[in-house]
Amino acid sequence: MFNHQFLSKIIIVFSIFLVCWFSTVLYFVISYPNIEWNWDEIDVDDLEFPKSFIWGTATAAHQVEGNNTNNNWYEWELSYDENNVSRIYNGDRSGLASDHWNRYPEDIKLMKNLGVNHYRFSIEWSRIEPQKGIINQEAIHHYHELINALINSDITPVITLHHFTHPIWFEELGAFEKEDNIKYFVKFSEIVFSEFSSDVPIWCTINEPAVFVSEGYFNDIFPPGAKNPQLSSIVMKNLLNAHVEVYRHLKAMPNGELVKIGLVKSIFHFDPYRHWHVLDWFLSRVLDNVFTNEPLKFLKTGQSSFYMPGLVNDEISNKDAVGSLDFIGLNYYSRMHVQGQLNQHEPFIFKTRLRDIQTDMGYPMYAEGLHRALHTISELEVPIYITENGLADRSDEIRPLFIKRYLYAVSQALKDSLDIRGYFYWSLMDNFEWAKGYDMKFGLYEVDFKTQERKLRQGSKPFIDIISRFSE
Ligand code: BGC
Repeated sequence: MFNHQFLSKIIIVFSIFLVCWFSTVLYFVISYPNIEWNWDEIDVDDLEFPKSFIWGTATAAHQVEGNNTNNNWYEWELSYDENNVSRIYNGDRSGLASDHWNRYPEDIKLMKNLGVNHYRFSIEWSRIEPQKGIINQEAIHHYHELINALINSDITPVITLHHFTHPIWFEELGAFEKEDNIKYFVKFSEIVFSEFSSDVPIWCTINEPAVFVSEGYFNDIFPPGAKNPQLSSIVMKNLLNAHVEVYRHLKAMPNGELVKIGLVKSIFHFDPYRHWHVLDWFLSRVLDNVFTNEPLKFLKTGQSSFYMPGLVNDEISNKDAVGSLDFIGLNYYSRMHVQGQLNQHEPFIFKTRLRDIQTDMGYPMYAEGLHRALHTISELEVPIYITENGLADRSDEIRPLFIKRYLYAVSQALKDSLDIRGYFYWSLMDNFEWAKGYDMKFGLYEVDFKTQERKLRQGSKPFIDIISRFSE
């Protein structure tokens, strides 16, 4: 009798558990459908781009210029982790990088050969202001020369003010960990803007705040390697507020109303590895929220939160954020598949699916994701520039397919009437890929780092073909 009752209770509890489990999974599956296109049935040449569409390539100062020895990354490259292993793969250091500082005239010719009409690059703060309050006129002169050379070649310059690097003095003051330090970034931005705003029509304030925060303050992949969720949320808040401040200050300056100023947001999807597993779903949602949805909500409404269960629960609010974008820059690469695990120190891992085509960065080719991300970001209701998209592929075997599929996805989003103004390929040439050093080959042009010789990759040809099909 006792056994029978006990068994019935167990069956009831188990049934309730199963019903809850399956209804939760069903809710997620219906709310967040897994978007995968049947590429066998798609004609990737079926493209449409308006004549006014901007075609560009992108780089960042520290990754290409060479000899940047006065910023947070230079120090990081010289440091070792707790196991005495270099922070950078293979012990690489940025060093001379692609020597773009000296070879930019040649690199502009490379851009011309591609047929692009825009070039996105970043201004290295540690060169302009090597010490607090001291401005280096030679560095300013250099960027004037670069900008003039671009304009003389009919290539429109696009500036990024902060692309992961800043001067050592700023890092030593606590960088974006302190709200009070935002003023230094605003000052630097004003100096750069007063110099170049008559020649540069598009300005990106900060590149990928969420990547800067997750890699530098949550993981220890970027400097300062803090591994501190509380601090992550503070830095995120300060970066978003820094964008708003810079936007407001630059808009009030001469040329402010004539140029476009925006933020560059990376969208990297987090999807469940096991579609039947509640934990994978739950963690994917948390990551998507903290990385993408909440920062976008902040830009749209001035209010958002930074929530990671058991780790951090913070609010961000700034009414000036509303209307602080003339455009949004979207950097899109791929997605991650999340597998949850009952481990307090490592609650999830990223899994590779065998059926996906992998890039060398360890994440898959997922062009549908670019279409998805464009729809998500369009909720901001401002013009969109795809400020980065590309892949690491040292074999050069999947680059052609990547270019065709991702541009097909852009073309589809244009057909959906999204306001997409341009596409910048990452990257013009091989460069220093942060913690992965020189191992990753993102370039349309291959660089021989011994001789600095540049060579067009065969796999880059579809990009040139597509530009020529749709240019005037
Ligand atoms: C960054 C680039 C980087 C690229 C490829 C983006 O997150 O803005 O600096 O090289 O991804 O990993």
